[in-house]
Amino acid sequence: MRRIMYISSLSTSLSDDEIRSIGRISSRNNKKIDVTGVLLFAHEFFFQILEGEQAIVESLVEKIRRDPRHRDFLILKCEDGVSMRLFPNWSMRTVRLEESQGMILQAVRLMLETIAESHRIIERYTQPSVLHLLTQGINPLEIPPKAVDRIILFGDMVGFSLLSERFPTEEVTLAVNTYLELCSKRIIEFGGEVSKYIGDCVMAHFPAEAPDAAIEACVKALGDLQHFRAGVAGGRLRKYLFGGFGLTRGQVIEGNIGSTIKMDYTILGEEVNRAQRLESLTRVIHRALAVSRAVRENAEYDWGFECAGEFELKGHSGTCPVYTIADPVVADFRDSSELALMLDAAPDGPLA
Ligand SMILES: Cc1cc2nc3c(=O)[nH]c(=O)nc-3n(C[C@H](O)[C@H](O)[C@H](O)COP(=O)(O)O)c2cc1C
Repeated sequence: MRRIMYISSLSTSLSDDEIRSIGRISSRNNKKIDVTGVLLFAHEFFFQILEGEQAIVESLVEKIRRDPRHRDFLILKCEDGVSMRLFPNWSMRTVRLEESQGMILQAVRLMLETIAESHRIIERYTQPSVLHLLTQGINPLEIPPKAVDRIILFGDMVGFSLLSERFPTEEVTLAVNTYLELCSKRIIEFGGEVSKYIGDCVMAHFPAEAPDAAIEACVKALGDLQHFRAGVAGGRLRKYLFGGFGLTRGQVIEGNIGSTIKMDYTILGEEVNRAQRLESLTRVIHRALAVSRAVRENAEYDWGFECAGEFELKGHSGTCPVYTIADPVVADFRDSSELALMLDAAPDGPLA
């Protein structure tokens, strides 16, 4: 059997009758499929425990997740191989935790609110894969390292040092955060995983068989940056926000890398270094995207690949071809020295 606990927030205000109706329908439905559990409703969020046969609970959770009456659905814990039910007599007992109820219920409400809040904060600091493992009931610390094939992405903001020399910290921080936000959203949208941020740089990976998705994520992120530069929001640094991406494909080690003080579930290897090297080559080839031969050869879509030259890449003897693509957003690139000229010529001059 499987037991799942989740927490969610109310999306619209619900009357007592509507809450009672959720409880009634749940109880009736769950009885038919031999699911038991409890649903707590506290103020603006729900906490539910569901237990029953694995496949049945799984599909019920998917149905509940899609219910428009709540949002921010977050699985707190998932246990498989459960042999004893915690709530054998409740097909779905619905409990409303009220202000007027005793101090103990107040404390439970506060505790649930705190758990929800902490989870949402941790969610933003943790790699999605780690959270996913945790909610599947798997302890990521116990997963042995493995060799896997991946597409690796490195994306760096152009001219970070230059901008930090010339603009106040708050404005530079806003620019870096905007850059990372735009890139990360596209990486996730196209099926990638953001592994970590290294200063103003994003490191991510995609499944080995998804080079087209990885390229598209870069092209879309570059389009977003272009759009952002042309807009009005985002402060004085808006016009100077450019980025470069490197994409490689190859074998890396995936697993827990770190110490007892800080652990990362991440990828590691020569191929990661090569992705970083390719990203730095964007300054040399003067295009916002540089991809390795392996990425080019495995891409199915016709991206209009162009060979940008032969370069030494660590771990390869001799030189290797580096490719870019014929796309206006990839060609719309500035390196640091061009940014410096733009800044010098700016009518409103930085810090003026
Ligand atoms: C917080 C919350 C918990 C729910 N829990 C259950 C449940 O345990 N079982 C269930 O059948 N429906 C549950 N529902 C309702 C389902 O999302 C869905 O509306 C309902 O199952 C549809 O029932 P019907 O097919 O009989 O019309 C829940 C809804 C919400 C908002």
